[in-house]
This record gives sequence, structure tokens and C-alpha cells, in this order.
Amino acid sequence: MRSNPRDLASAHLLGIADLLVSEIERLLRVGERAARWLAGEAPKSDVLRGRVVVLGFLEPSTRTRVSFEIAGKRLGADTINLTGGGSSLDKGESLLDTVWTLESMGVDCLVLRHARSGVGNDLAPRLERMSLVNGGDGAHEHPTQALLDVLALRLRGVSPGGLRVAIVGDVAYSRVARSDLFLLTALGAHVTVCGPPSLLPAGLAGMARAPGSIAVTHDLEDAVSGARVVIALRLQRERQEAGLVPSIEDYVRGYQITADRLERLSPGALVLHPGPMNRGVEIESRLADSPASLVREQVTAGVAVRCAVLERACRAGEWATPAAARAQANVEAVRAFAAAREAS
Ligand code: NCD
Repeated sequence: MRSNPRDLASAHLLGIADLLVSEIERLLRVGERAARWLAGEAPKSDVLRGRVVVLGFLEPSTRTRVSFEIAGKRLGADTINLTGGGSSLDKGESLLDTVWTLESMGVDCLVLRHARSGVGNDLAPRLERMSLVNGGDGAHEHPTQALLDVLALRLRGVSPGGLRVAIVGDVAYSRVARSDLFLLTALGAHVTVCGPPSLLPAGLAGMARAPGSIAVTHDLEDAVSGARVVIALRLQRERQEAGLVPSIEDYVRGYQITADRLERLSPGALVLHPGPMNRGVEIESRLADSPASLVREQVTAGVAVRCAVLERACRAGEWATPAAARAQANVEAVRAFAAAREAS
């Protein structure tokens, strides 16, 4: 059965800000089940047999693209890769025409990674049958990364309610940080965001969703002391070229997450990094490979989360959220989008 237009609002995944806590919980529950299933021998099901998923990655990606493809294939969907180069986008076709073309061919779900913030929010209302999943849009959101971060923690027995988390690094440009902030606070975590002033936008505290909270500091010791979880963000080289980080050496001295710092400030804390890592810049290489690091478990959890997200995206009818609750979620999302824009 094709998804019908009414169900699409509950099939798109544009950002964490769009999701109700009940939807988040369901995705994590299904993701947890998928993680157990994926750990078995050669998992293969036909839950999505006959569904077509296009992976439109118009920006570089390793983990996100490949894990969506593995998730789709494990669930029996047909997956097709579309890149900017070699497609009609190269000939100047608009993104909307490209997206409509895919919809007209009967594609069930498009996973889109794009440099423009909010691109999915523009496209989604123009779609009638095809669902849209945000694989990372500019500096806006990366919802499946946040979901996999929380799933990786849960699989280690760490739940976000009341959790103290530090997010360190290039927050201003990070879609991962935004989605993590929305998700972790919605689930009750208390997050301290930390980085040099040039990489921390104003207004971050206003992005917190109840019952969690967000505090901001430029001092790494403040942020990491007492944190159970530290999320290191990639220092984006393009930012350094723009002069926002005067010197890598200063950054490393002030903000690199190292095994010694962690041991001293917050013994037993876990470290996450969305990848790709700059070893020796935002994270000490030795720490990235230590038992405190969840980096590889994050990648594994990513396949499971994407199984849940694709199931929701392709079988919307079974995941539909009541219209009133959906309308409320949309109001919240608009508020969060405005707050995020103000913060950037
Ligand atoms: C991130 C991204 O592309 O937003 N990577 C990822 O998807 N795991 C983070 C980054 O590039 O810094």
C-alpha cells in the first residue's frame, strides 16, 4: 500500500524539533529492537519489500549515507543513490523539479542531505506521496544523528532523563549540536555547551525543550566537570579558513577532549563524536580508541535508528500521529526553527 497524502506529516522526518516526545520514544524503541535484530546472523526482512528509497546525498557523507543504505537493504527496500554530479541537477534542474520527478516515479522515501538549512521544510509541503527524511541540512538539523547518539547511550544503559551532558566545539555551524540539543533536553537532559566565543552563537539557552536545560560556558573545565557524557564536535576546517579559529594550537589547548582531562574532571564519563573525527584536534586519538569512547557504537546504532526511521517513512499509516498533536508539534517546530535561526 502506498502512503496516502494524509499520513505524510507523520512520515517526514525534517528535524527533532518536529517530533513529539511520544514519536521520539517510539523511534528509539523500534531502534532498540532493530539493534538486537541487526546483531544477529545476516539479518534480512521484507518489512519494506517493494518500497523504493532514494538516497540523495548532495554533500559528502560516509556514515549517514551507507547506514541508510544498509538499513534499507536489511529491511528489503530497493535503494538507489543519487548524487549531485551526474544527475540533472548538474544541468540546472531545480531541486524541486528533481524531487517531483522522483515522486512521479513512485519513490516512497527520499533521504536528502543538502547544504541549505531548512531545505526539507520548504520541500515537504509540496509532496503528496513521497516522504522526506533529513540526512543533514546545512547548519540546521541532523535528526538521525541525534537519535543514534541517544540510542548508543541507551544501549550502554545510560538514559537521558536527568543526564549531565557537555557538548564541546564548533556549535555555531553544527547541525548535529542543534538536533542533540533539541533531543537531549526534550528527554530531560541538562546540557552544557562549550567552545570559544567565535564558535558559540548567541541564544543557545533558548533552544532547550522542557524538561531539560541548556547552559553555556567558554571554560572546558566548567563544562566537563560532573558530566556523564561529553560530545566532541568536529572542528570544521572551512571555519578555520574563515578565520573563526585563530590557531589550531590554541583550540587544542583550550578545548581538545583528552583522556587525562576526562579522568581528572569527570572520571567514568563517556565520549561521543559524530564523525568524521579530526584525531588530535577536537579529540585525542588515544581517547577515541579507549573504552570511554562510544564512537564505534554510535555508528552501529546508526543503522538501527535508520531502520526505525525508514520504517516510519515508508509505512506512514501505521505510525500516524493524531492531527491535533501533529499541529502542536508543528507549532513547536516553527518556534524552535526561529530560535535556531536567531542563534546562528
Ligand atoms: C556530521 C555531519 O555531516 O553533519 N557527520 C555525520 O553525519 N556523522 C558531522 C560533521 O560533519 O562534522
